Amino acid sequence: MQTSEIADKADFDHIRYAQLWEDADVLTQGLGNCAGQTLVSICSAGDNALAMLTLDPEKVVVVDLSPAQIACLRLRMAAFKTLSHPEFLRLMGARPSSDRPELLKKVAQTLDRDTGTFWEGLSDEVALHGAGGVGKFERYFRIFRTRLLPLVHSRKTIDDIFVSRPRSERETFLQTRFNTWRWRLLLNVFFSRFVMGRMGRDKAFFDHVDGSPASHVARRIRHAAVDCDPADNPYLHWIMKGTHGDAFPMTWREEHYATICDRLDRIEIRPGSLEAFVSTGERAHGFNLSDIFEYMSPEVFQNVYGSILSAAAPGARLVYWNMMAPRRVPEKYRDRVTTLGNLEDDLKARDKAFFYSDFVIEEVIG
Ligand SMILES: C[S@@+](CC[C@H](N)C(=O)[O-])C[C@H]1O[C@@H](n2cnc3c(N)ncnc32)[C@H](O)[C@@H]1O
Repeated sequence: MQTSEIADKADFDHIRYAQLWEDADVLTQGLGNCAGQTLVSICSAGDNALAMLTLDPEKVVVVDLSPAQIACLRLRMAAFKTLSHPEFLRLMGARPSSDRPELLKKVAQTLDRDTGTFWEGLSDEVALHGAGGVGKFERYFRIFRTRLLPLVHSRKTIDDIFVSRPRSERETFLQTRFNTWRWRLLLNVFFSRFVMGRMGRDKAFFDHVDGSPASHVARRIRHAAVDCDPADNPYLHWIMKGTHGDAFPMTWREEHYATICDRLDRIEIRPGSLEAFVSTGERAHGFNLSDIFEYMSPEVFQNVYGSILSAAAPGARLVYWNMMAPRRVPEKYRDRVTTLGNLEDDLKARDKAFFYSDFVIEEVIG
């Protein structure tokens, strides 16, 4: 089996992402028409692989190096089959709840033994934070929200961020109430490389990152608070308040619950690396690549990109994000793909998972 550069560096024993911090609305629109086709998705917490079922593909092959991340997808799949939509939201933590241990037990009983035992071991944490709140990344946001945010903003200010208002008023709100000097100080400390490396991401993940994470986050907060309406933003809501408000990530919305549930048998889980999939000789028509390229050195990125192209059908789209390190089609392969710049711009302007610096859609020339 092919291995992957990052697998040697990072510790994948625990859940890193208990929910998916990438916007499935822009992912699915970026993938375009995929009805009846084979798609490939990085798993992470599994939400976006499930969202890809709304595109009516023949199958979605889901890969991940981390067994804990695969367990997040298996839990969701079992929950879709076992729970009503309101129960699903309570189990995941989108809504406050006192019945999470019972909900978890009900779902865990339908899982394979290893995955069920894994989740039952997390029952106390799930009870407190929801199954979507138990990852290292969510813990990092929780420390931000519970220990530091109260030193900077009152409850009233935080609630007011999520009041829907016209763009000009959002600008005034940001200037006068949100982006205060205390807020800027908080961003500088909390999003320093040192703190992020210790609490959120492995230091290895910064090897290829340019610039200060804090200045990047400040720019992206503007996108989320002014360019977009925070009232529609489930990601910002969770970070600031620890649950969802009226808005949910695509996969968690009621309108998609039955469709996803009906198509769960089209998910094909293959624990292991993306590189292992591309070495099977199968071809896919669309790839959700998360932001995995950012975790690779430019040389490894170029090699992996080339191998994905060899596993891509004509017209296939490669969709991926960059958080801080720039990654786009390597020079060597520029004549093999078309960058869908207009679609990228349109979707970037609407990307609710605001912390990424770039969103890329590249289409394989047929
Ligand atoms: C790249 S991380 C990013 C997570 C993300 N930004 C989010 O919000 O969930 C997503 C997942 O990719 C997996 N991963 C990274 N490199 C991979 C590779 N080469 N093959 C398969 N999975 C990979 C990690 O295990 C992780 O679960």
